[in-house]
Amino acid sequence: LESGLARTPQLGWNDWNSFGCNVSDTLIRQTADAMVSSGMAAAGYRYVNIDDCWSQRTRNGSGDLVPDPQKFPNGMKALADYVHGKGLKIGIYSSAGLTTCAGYPASLNNEQRDAKLWASWGIDYLKYDNCGDTQGKSGQQRYTAMRDALATSGRPILFAICNWGTDSVGSWGPATGNSWRTTGDIAGNWNSVMGILDSQPGWMSYSKPGAWNDPDMLEVGNGLSDTESRAHFSLWAVLNAPLIAGNDLRTMSAATKAILTNTEVIGVNQDWGGRQGNRIADNGNSEVWAKPMANGSAAVVLLNRASSTATVSTTAAQLGLGGAASYSVRDLWAHTTSTTGSTISASVPAHGAAMYLVTGGTGSTTGTFALRGSQSGR
Ligand code: GLA
Repeated sequence: LESGLARTPQLGWNDWNSFGCNVSDTLIRQTADAMVSSGMAAAGYRYVNIDDCWSQRTRNGSGDLVPDPQKFPNGMKALADYVHGKGLKIGIYSSAGLTTCAGYPASLNNEQRDAKLWASWGIDYLKYDNCGDTQGKSGQQRYTAMRDALATSGRPILFAICNWGTDSVGSWGPATGNSWRTTGDIAGNWNSVMGILDSQPGWMSYSKPGAWNDPDMLEVGNGLSDTESRAHFSLWAVLNAPLIAGNDLRTMSAATKAILTNTEVIGVNQDWGGRQGNRIADNGNSEVWAKPMANGSAAVVLLNRASSTATVSTTAAQLGLGGAASYSVRDLWAHTTSTTGSTISASVPAHGAAMYLVTGGTGSTTGTFALRGSQSGR
């Protein structure tokens, strides 16, 4: 969506993956504090997002949504002011139906009213789900109504469509939202992350600045091992996916913090080389995912899905970087640089990934860089 927002994939946090309906003013304030003190804000994270279950069970007499006074005793405006005071932004949640997925009132037929209310609170981001009675309206109709309501709300509000890849959202999502979910819900286990990954290649052509494929929020530090978390984060980075942390930022381990604040990996996620990353080789449990970088380098993830260590390799030619005598290989997890002839190879632990930036070769300067081929949507 050309709203000026999400020119690079949005970075933030959302309560759902760790807390479900247990969201509160205290949690959001403490998370905003932790986003700053952990170094995440310095690494680029901005949005602190409230998910489902924040409101009362019914609208008030004037027809407005009302924050649950037990969970949000200070109201949403005061909370937004607090989050803004930290230099961060705040997000809210609703659904394009009569109720949310947890059964709270949602925004179908109340788009203008709700958008204006959120703007009056200082809300910066809307995650808009697909639950509840849709009264026979198409996904495109329901999401377009909210897009238009946000546009006239008086405040820039990032619009994150959450309709799980239904209703051919690829065809209208880029003109309607700043991102759209491509799948059902992620869970904090390796099989879930790999299952979502497997459905990403078909979505590649739809993403561009302002309009991103969303393979769902992160489960880094949330049920995955550190090795699995590094692989998950590497893959979401080459997919140019929104990076919305889903763990408890207040209690995360040093290892989880180091993963989420790896600015070299985040740099790949925020770079636009003409298209998002894709799978370029699939040899059973060994896969190669790669993404063109704006400067002509290639970002590459060597993925080992097996339950024992394996060597995973690619070549400069496969990456479209043919023609040089040697290539510079930057290891984005070890933060070291080496030189190679033409093979990029790593011994990758079970359920793990290596991630590199590969630079050099004629491809990066002649415009024949294979990864950049057949591009649209720049
Ligand atoms: C749906 C969404 C989730 C979460 C829940 C809340 O399942 O896909 O991300 O927002 O609803 O109920």
